[in-house]
Formats: sequence, C-alpha cells, structure tokens
Amino acid sequence: GLRRASNIHWQALEVDKAARAHQKHQKPCVLWFTGLSGAGKSTVANLVEKRLMAMGHHSYLLDGDNVRHGLNRDLGFTAEDRVENVRRVAEVSSLFVDAGLIVLVSFISPFRAERRLAREKVAAGEFLEVFVDAPLEVCEQRDVKGLYKKARAGEIKNFTGIDSDYEPPEAPELHLRTDQAEPDELADQVIQALRARGLLR
Ligand code: PPS
Repeated sequence: GLRRASNIHWQALEVDKAARAHQKHQKPCVLWFTGLSGAGKSTVANLVEKRLMAMGHHSYLLDGDNVRHGLNRDLGFTAEDRVENVRRVAEVSSLFVDAGLIVLVSFISPFRAERRLAREKVAAGEFLEVFVDAPLEVCEQRDVKGLYKKARAGEIKNFTGIDSDYEPPEAPELHLRTDQAEPDELADQVIQALRARGLLR
C-alpha cells in the first residue's frame, strides 16, 4: 500500500498567492482544456497563451504530450494511468495557481471525476473548464498525428473515442466548436471569458 507521510504540518508562508498574482495585474486561475485527440486543445491553448503574453500576463501551459515526457513518463493510456496522469496535473496546476499564474492545461482528461477533482483543487471561480469540441469523425479525418489510423488498425490500444471512453463535460464554462469556427476566433472567446470574470486587468 501507499506509505503516507506522518508528522508533516502545513507551513504558512509570508508571500501568498494574491501577492504573487497582484504583481502581475492578474488573478490566478486554471483554464482546463479537455477534448478528444485532434479536437484542437493545444492549438487554441497556444493561441490563448500568446495573447496573454502579448498583454503582459504571466502564464504557463501544461500540455499532455510534453508532461508525458517528464513528470508522467511512467504512465501509459489505461484508464488507471489516465486517472493518475490527470491527478498529478491537477496538483501541479493548483501549485501554479498558488504561484500566481494563469495556468492553461491541455490534456484529453477523458473522465468527469478527475476533472471535478482538478476543479476542487482551486478556489471557486478560479477554474474554467473549456470543452474543445469536434465530432469524432472530424478529429479522425484530421488525424494530424496519424494515431486514429493506427488505432483503427489495432496498432494502438485504448485510444480515446475508439476503444477508450471520453465523457464530455456537462456544464463547461466554455464550449468551443472547433469544426465551426477558426482557432483565432475561439481564442478570442477564451480571452473575453477571462475578462468577463474579472480575471484580467
Ligand atoms: S489523458 O487521457 O488526459 O491521460 O491523455 P493526454 O495526457 O492528454 O495524452 C494524449 C496524447 O497522447 C497521444 N496518445 C493517445 N491519446 C489517446 N489515447 C491513446 N491511446 C494515445 N496514445 C498516444 C495523443 O497524441 C494525444 O495527444 P492530443 O494532443 O490529445 O492529440
């Protein structure tokens, strides 16, 4: 079983989240992009981060493909491993929020339960679930990385949308239809949503 740490207390620190974020004229938050492979999560998240950067904000983009090369290199794509993948990313994103950053998270994150856990790691109003939505047929047609083809051929097991579940968000703060609008327009919608919630100054 798990060995839990004992005799560990919470150390209060002098510089807090509000102070770190205030210095950057922003309120820290998590933009959690979820959707099928090829739906456009990374594309839109990258555009949003470029806009934030141009406005002088301090952000960080956590991307599935990249984090799986380092922190989560021990994890594959079974349901169990995806749960752990998303759990760790939720912990990291809550640390980055504490650091005062606008955190963009771009993972398939297929299960509602783990997305709810991620939401619960930060304060109310600090979590925006962004459903990056395109029909499976469209994602498969795009097949940017050739992975759908391999999954259909049985060369990749547990592929999301083929032989592994994707549970769409029921009440996302933002629902982006990437088959119906250009990425630039969708990135603008995300920025507007941040403004409307008073998260940018
Ligand atoms: S998850 O479900 O949140 O743990 O997935 P994530 O960490 O975002 O990783 C998804 C990217 O890994 C590639 N890949 C797969 N995706 C889904 N299913 C299987 N079996 C798989 N194997 C590899 C794929 O390139 C995903 O990238 P995106 O950017 O989503 O297309």
